[in-house]
Amino acid sequence: MKLFYGLVIHSKSIDDLCFLPNTVLIVDKGKIVCIQENADVNKVQQKHNISSENVVILKENEFLMPGMIDTHIHAPQYINAGFGLELPLLGWLNKYTFPTEARFSDLKFANEVYTRVVANTLINGTTTAMYFATIHKDSALLLGDIAHQIGQRAFIGKVSMDQNSPEYYIEEKGSAIKDIEEFIVSLQSKNYPNIQPAVTPRFAITCSMNLMKTLSELASKYNVNIQTHVSENPAECEVAVSLHEGCRDYVDIYAQANLLTAKTILAHGVYLSDKELEVLHRYQTSISHCPNSNCSIRSGMCDVRRLMEKGLRVGLGTDVSGGFSSSILDAMRFAITVSNILSLSKSEDYKPLNFRDVFFMATLGGAQALGLDDKVGNFEIGKEFDALVVNLAPTDGNLEVWPDESIENRLSKWIHLGDDRSISRVYVNGVEVKEGASNTLRIKR
Ligand code: GUN
Ligand code: ZN
Repeated sequence: MKLFYGLVIHSKSIDDLCFLPNTVLIVDKGKIVCIQENADVNKVQQKHNISSENVVILKENEFLMPGMIDTHIHAPQYINAGFGLELPLLGWLNKYTFPTEARFSDLKFANEVYTRVVANTLINGTTTAMYFATIHKDSALLLGDIAHQIGQRAFIGKVSMDQNSPEYYIEEKGSAIKDIEEFIVSLQSKNYPNIQPAVTPRFAITCSMNLMKTLSELASKYNVNIQTHVSENPAECEVAVSLHEGCRDYVDIYAQANLLTAKTILAHGVYLSDKELEVLHRYQTSISHCPNSNCSIRSGMCDVRRLMEKGLRVGLGTDVSGGFSSSILDAMRFAITVSNILSLSKSEDYKPLNFRDVFFMATLGGAQALGLDDKVGNFEIGKEFDALVVNLAPTDGNLEVWPDESIENRLSKWIHLGDDRSISRVYVNGVEVKEGASNTLRIKR
């Protein structure tokens, strides 16, 4: 058992951000077993017979919050983060992305990069990541091993693509299906408690209808999540619809392929029509909002408020390396900025996203979008303990908080100015995977 005591911040819903001072939270075998506000910590410690070395008393400038959730990140593209952003989506894929991803047939190379991306995202507070890997089955499995060993909760997507791709980076029609089924079976048979496979058709341009339909059958046979991209860039939308005859619009392509489920997450959705949003809502399919990527490769600005008002679940994604940062704090800031810019051309009653909204999206909202909210996303008895200890007085960095600042302003400051130096401890399923601002990960491998 482990006991935490101090200020706890979490969302119960998008409209209910809770600040709980002097709160005791007890974790047993990875799960939250007790939460008590305004508690007498000594009494609770004695009652549960918890030894002092298992008690974490948060300092005055610290708070405990749920771990952050990246609902869309390309692990192999980590090495490209921060360059090659001069081209829009389709040119960028051909010039930078496909050549980089092709290198991941080399397991030694994959091991080096994947170890860094898992370590770096955890250091930045991402306790759950929804990964795209590459088309290579073995290196995608390796990403699952690495996330398990380092201690991140993750969905691993072996990418599927069988058309309109360069000849050096495409799957043969026959092996595409065989490989994805073997991938799912192998990863599931490892019984890693926090790692799951995800069916990952890259997007409608690089996937035949036949492949997508078979992938949807496999997703249902093995009960796994599905991830892909939708309606990110105008040229992409046009090509996608022109390639799939008889499909009314982009969403209809995935509807006809039976890929829209309550366990499906679609990245971007910048240009979705009201009709498409209605269809997604009907299928309970969610959206990963990736504002850094949308700005960096100039895809467009997604009106997240509109998607949420239509009832869709929306999480945040870094979309490395269309997005240049692997930090969800960065995604939160970009989401606010994009929403602020959009609000300039809206009526006065339009509500741009604020720090409370993005805190929700980075935690419980992300969990809901991935169908994980029965397990993580906030602090409730019975949920698994994925959490961060945030230190608002790190020894270096731009974060400076005046002593008399309100708790709400402190949180807002952290969201706007914090970074990995202010995330002092990271827990996944009750296991501490980062300790101290020095960024030393307890890498078990
Ligand atoms: N659409 C298809 N593949 C990709 C990718 O790797 N990144 C982004 N941003 N969009 C895509
Ligand atoms: Zn993407």
